[in-house]
Order: sequence, then C-alpha cells, then structure tokens
Amino acid sequence: MSKRLLSILLYLIAGIFLPVVIIWGFSAIKSLPPSPSVASSQSSSLVTQPEIATKVSNSDVVLAEKIAKVFISACPIAESGDNIAREQCAEKLAKNQILRDSMPNEVRWGGQKELDHFNLSESKTTTFNPLVLRRLYLSTYMFIGEPKIQQVNNLTVVHLPVKFRNQLDSGFFPYPFWHSEKKWDSYQKTTEILLMIENGRLKGALRSAQKDQSRQVSMREWDGKWEWKGNDDAQNPKVSLYTSLFSANNPHVVALDESYRAFEIKMREHSCTVCHNPSNTQEMNPLLLLNYPNQALTLRHKTLDRIKAKTMPPPKGITDDQELNTMIQLASAFAEMGDKALAYEGEK
Ligand code: HEC
Repeated sequence: MSKRLLSILLYLIAGIFLPVVIIWGFSAIKSLPPSPSVASSQSSSLVTQPEIATKVSNSDVVLAEKIAKVFISACPIAESGDNIAREQCAEKLAKNQILRDSMPNEVRWGGQKELDHFNLSESKTTTFNPLVLRRLYLSTYMFIGEPKIQQVNNLTVVHLPVKFRNQLDSGFFPYPFWHSEKKWDSYQKTTEILLMIENGRLKGALRSAQKDQSRQVSMREWDGKWEWKGNDDAQNPKVSLYTSLFSANNPHVVALDESYRAFEIKMREHSCTVCHNPSNTQEMNPLLLLNYPNQALTLRHKTLDRIKAKTMPPPKGITDDQELNTMIQLASAFAEMGDKALAYEGEK
C-alpha cells in the first residue's frame, strides 16, 4: 500500500468514521431513562407499560422481580396429583425470607372480579395470615415461568403463569373449594396468579379472571361437610391442621390446638362459625373464616377485641356476663398461643 493511500484511509477513519461513532454513542445514552435505576436497566424485558413506571417506586419493581423468581424456583411443574411436590413447594414458600419480610400481618386472597380490576377491594377476598396463604393456598399451584410485571397506578402487579394441582387428594386442599362450582372452576382454569405489591408490601394475591377453558378439570362433588374423617380416621382437611402449618419441632402446636378446640366449641355455641365459614351467607368482604384452625389464627386479636367490645356475634355480642368472661378467656388464650407458635416459625 502506498503512503498516500494509507494517509487517505487514516483521514477517513479520523475525520468521518470516528465522529459518527461518537455522535451515535451519545444519542444512545440520551435515549435511556433519566435515572438509569436497577428497575429500568435490568427489568425492561419483564416490565410492561413503562410509561407509567415513573409513578411507582422502582424498589417495588425490584421486589416484584425477586418475588416472581422465588415462586418459580420453589414450585416447578410436577404431576398435578403429586403431594410430595406440593409439600416441597409449601415448605419453600413458608420459609422464604423475602416473602416473609414483605407480607403484612393480614393479606388477601380471592378470585379477580374481572380482567383489569387489580384493586384488591374490588374483588371478593378472604383475609389470611401470611404463613397460611403461602403454605396452604399458594402451594396448590405450580409456577410455569415467564412472569410479567405490570404497573397500575400505585400497584405493581406480578402476573405469574400457573397450573393448578387439581388431582391432589381432597385432604390436601385447605377446604373443599368445590363447594362452589364457580370457585372450583376459577381455581382450575385460571392461567395466572396475580401478586399485588405496593410500598414494599405484598398485600395479596388473586386468581386471574383469565381462564383457559381447555384445561383438564377434576370433577368433585361436595357432600356438605367442611370437615371429615379420612380412611385412616384422621381429621380432614389434613392441611388445615396446625400439624401441617407448623414445623414438626414447634413446641407450641399441641397447646395451640387445645386452645383452639376449646374456643371453637364455644364459637359454635355462639354461632360464630355459622357466618364465618366459606359459604359466607352474610357476603362479608373480605371474609374472615373461623371454622378451621389455621384460618382462625388470622384475626386472633381482632376476634378477642370484637368479643370484648360486644360487637360479635351481632347485634349485641354475648350478653351473659359469665359467658362473656369465659369467651374472653378462651379467645385470649388462643390468641396468645397463636402468637407463640407463629413466633417460633420466625413469623411476625
Ligand atoms: C350473623 C352473622 C355473624 C355471626 C353469628 C358472627 N359474625 Fe363476626 N362478622 C359478621 C359480619 C357480617 C362481619 C363484617 C362486618 C363487621 O365487621 O361488623 C363480621 C366481622 C367480624 C370480625 C372482624 C373481621 C375483620 O376483618 O375485621 C371479627 C373478628 C368477627 N366478626 C368475629 C366473630 C366472632 C368471634 C363471632 C362469635 C362470637 C362472630 N364474629 C359471630 C357476621 C357474624
């Protein structure tokens, strides 16, 4: 190559090619969002509607991504009747520190009213203790992967594609969901679980109204019993018992169970469980369940408060003073044992 040709080539590189590259580089940087945070730089593939993203704290998006990963890795696809897989999933969701730290003392769970209704109070929900929701309810699902994160006003919604474990034995469902055809259909055919995150808190979850009508369903008929004895004479639903909810070495389980049984007999006498059961004749929203040991834990302190304040049962509470005293004692013993058992598991 002649010297002349070489200098022309160098001139071309320095004079035209370099400036073009530099200008292109600058414009690429400018097109990034003003504050390149973790959320916008790492999660662009997950986040939809980025134009609304600025309204929501980026830390909610980061939390949403972490939470999505927890579910997907804890509860992979298995046979839909495989209880060992469900139990492994339940254990991981129960013990996970990210979930534990981000869930408040009361969380909501229910079926989404209609697509695009993301506010939890728009849908019919039940109030849960967060450990109960993680261990018993969310473990009935398998998480397929490919989550999407959507932002709706202040809410960060995680869409988690799912498959329901509809072939499990009846005792491994927290209660017979098939008491209502609509509910059972929603459990089996929903394509996604929606997790609602706001201000660093996972406030609740919904079964999406998006259904896949082609999913195989398990037909079950309810015999009118919320509880029943299995072939082994064991109390069912098995998972509703404290022995399923708490670790095998939790020293408070026996005393907690005794305190619930004593309280439950009295709650039945005062019709608490007539209204506070899954058929929800009073159409409470959110619903509080008192007819299962694990569910009664949820509002154990409010239950005591309402009895003391004589606002439950409606209209005037328990009017006999001696009886009221007995109920207060039973309710407070139960609340106290519940606190101890949950604290042993590392729960708030
Ligand atoms: C006739 C039906 C009925 C009976 C019986 C009844 N409740 Fe209620 N309960 C309701 C309804 C409806 C609500 C929701 C409205 C409200 O908060 O007052 C409610 C609310 C509650 C709440 C507050 C829930 C929350 O989310 O804050 C508690 C706690 C409660 N009931 C406990 C009890 C206990 C304990 C008993 C028995 C001693 C009882 N209830 C008996 C219908 C009933």
